[in-house]
Amino acid sequence: MSKIDFDKIVDRRGTGALKWDKYGDSDVIPMWVADMEFETSPAIIDFIRQRLDHAILGYTKAPASLNTAVQTYLREHHGCTIDPDWLVWVPGVVPAVAVACETAGEPDDEILVFTPVYHPLLLLPPKKHRNRVDVPLSYEKGSNGEGGRWVIDFDAFEKAITKKSRILLLCSPHNPAGMMFSREELRRLTEICHTRNITIISDEIHCDLVLHPAKKHVTTSVAAEDLQNQVITLMSPSKTFNLAGANASFAVIPDPERRQRFADACLYTVPIVPTLSYTAAEAAYRSGWEWHSQLIDYLRGNLSVIKQTVNETPGLWMDDTEATYLAWINTSELPVQDAFDFLLKAGVGLSPGAQFGDPGYQRLNFACSRTQLLQGLERIKGAIEKL
Ligand SMILES: Cc1ncc(COP(=O)(O)O)c(C=O)c1O
Repeated sequence: MSKIDFDKIVDRRGTGALKWDKYGDSDVIPMWVADMEFETSPAIIDFIRQRLDHAILGYTKAPASLNTAVQTYLREHHGCTIDPDWLVWVPGVVPAVAVACETAGEPDDEILVFTPVYHPLLLLPPKKHRNRVDVPLSYEKGSNGEGGRWVIDFDAFEKAITKKSRILLLCSPHNPAGMMFSREELRRLTEICHTRNITIISDEIHCDLVLHPAKKHVTTSVAAEDLQNQVITLMSPSKTFNLAGANASFAVIPDPERRQRFADACLYTVPIVPTLSYTAAEAAYRSGWEWHSQLIDYLRGNLSVIKQTVNETPGLWMDDTEATYLAWINTSELPVQDAFDFLLKAGVGLSPGAQFGDPGYQRLNFACSRTQLLQGLERIKGAIEKL
């Protein structure tokens, strides 16, 4: 495949793009919601065009060839062996989390979640009439000039478990902190959940966006393969290949009883996956990997630019983003009342950390052209230097 031009600036205004419409005609650079400013792989677009030669877009079920493509993908990329029958397709990971919450025990039962975290995981338990129990991740400061990292506080986790605990919502790799849990952490977590009969809903949507050169994503169900019935894994090509608007996501549910309950709860409440989303997903898993490998290189380049600028700007700091294209920037030392608002006034639209449960941070989406990234960073740095 020839070189993909990730420097290309694509004007998304007037296309209904959520990210851009938020700020209308203003010149704010939107660096919030997690989609990318890059055109998806040409191979995916070709597949969709071909599918349109058959001009009926009726109700569609996941083709067997797609399930096989996912089985191959999971084996080759994540060392995960599945039976295609374990797959339940849904039009998004968030609806899948909603269904999982709904099927967890009775109203008022408890759903555990590590905080901070991607905000729908905070919002969905109460929406589904379950009690959310927050377990803060613990921040370990780095030594010898090394960055710090967020880790699971196992004592706090075990203390938070009660007879009413039914589900743990896990985000791995982690949005917004951008770190990857270790195999040991995931194994230990699964063992505890198995003992206490808590189902782990493992949202692994960012699993193919590993930027750390020496790390590999560990799927929760692989970290504790013998206990995999305890886990519902949620994945999707939508972040990896920038297909959020053509979403076909899947749940991997090895346990037949959990799978049936989940599939029954989806029926007539969650819309079926659109035909072209299935097409895009199959094209992505079969033919998108060369594009993806160039994407990762480009994102790594963006990450080093952002780390350098952030860490040399007074009042800001960030740790390594091991995975995702989201920088979790600590702004708590800035001498301003509301850092999100201050940076918005400087012309950069970030995601406020408070949304994810930590007001001391802002989240910046760096999946954009280098030019746009530099422009955003200049605005941030320039505004702070004037303080
Ligand atoms: C951790 C995580 N889960 C789920 C989603 C959204 O998934 P979907 O669009 O498939 O509902 C996102 C999007 O940013 C995310 O970061």
